[in-house]
Amino acid sequence: MKIKTAEFVISNTEVSKCPKEEFPEYAFIGRSNVGKSSLINMLTNHGSLAKTSGKPGKTQLINHFVINKTWFLVDLPGYGYASVSKDQRRSFQKFIQDYFNTRMQLACTFVLIDSRHKPQKIDLEFMEFLGLNEIPFCIVFTKSDKLNKSTLPKNIENYKKELLETWEELPPYFISSATNKAGQKEILDFIQGVNESLTN
Ligand code: GTP
Ligand code: MG
Repeated sequence: MKIKTAEFVISNTEVSKCPKEEFPEYAFIGRSNVGKSSLINMLTNHGSLAKTSGKPGKTQLINHFVINKTWFLVDLPGYGYASVSKDQRRSFQKFIQDYFNTRMQLACTFVLIDSRHKPQKIDLEFMEFLGLNEIPFCIVFTKSDKLNKSTLPKNIENYKKELLETWEELPPYFISSATNKAGQKEILDFIQGVNESLTN
C-alpha cells in the first residue's frame, strides 16, 4: 500500500473525544520505549509525525493520525513505566483500558515487543487482556537492527514457544526496524488486506 497522506488529527485521554469518523483503526501498544512512535513514523515515511524520545514515557495520550484520508493509526502511551508506584505501573492506565473496551472501529492492535528481550509478564498479560476481550492483535518484534543474524531468529523462536504455552494458535507477527525499514511493506500490506476485507 502506498501512503499518500498522513496527518495528525487529535490527542486526548478521553475515548469519547476520539475522532467520530468510522474509519478502520490500527492501534500501537507496548512497553514504554519499545518503539511505537518510531514505527508509526517509519510506516508513514514521516520523520516526525509521532513524537519519539530516548526517554521512556514520551507518549502520554491517545494520538490519532489519519492515513490516506480513509483509516487511522493510533499511537498509545507505553505501559510498564511511570514515575508512580509499582502497583500503578503494573496496571494499565484506565483510559487505555477504556480505549480498548469501547473503540468499535478498532480493526487490529499491534503489540510491540522489543526483539532483544525475553518474554515479559506485562506483555503476556496485555495479550491475555486482548484475547479475553476478543480484540484481534498482531505482534511486532521491534529494533531488529540491534540484533545479529543468529540471535534474532533465536529470540523469535523462544517467544513463540512461550506463547504456545498459553495460546492454541500464534497471532500474525512481523519483524521491524525503524532504522532500516524492515517490516514496512509487510505491515502495510497486512493493513491493506484488513481494510479490504472490511469493505468487501
Ligand atoms: P513511549 O512513547 O515513551 O512509550 O515510547 P515509544 O514506544 O513510542 O518509543 P519511541 O518510538 O519513542 O522510541 C524509543 C527509542 O528507541 C528512541 O530513542 C528511538 O530512536 C529508538 N528506536 C525505536 N525504534 C527503533 C528501531 O527499530 N531501531 C533502533 N535502533 N532504535 C529504535
Ligand atoms: Mg511513543
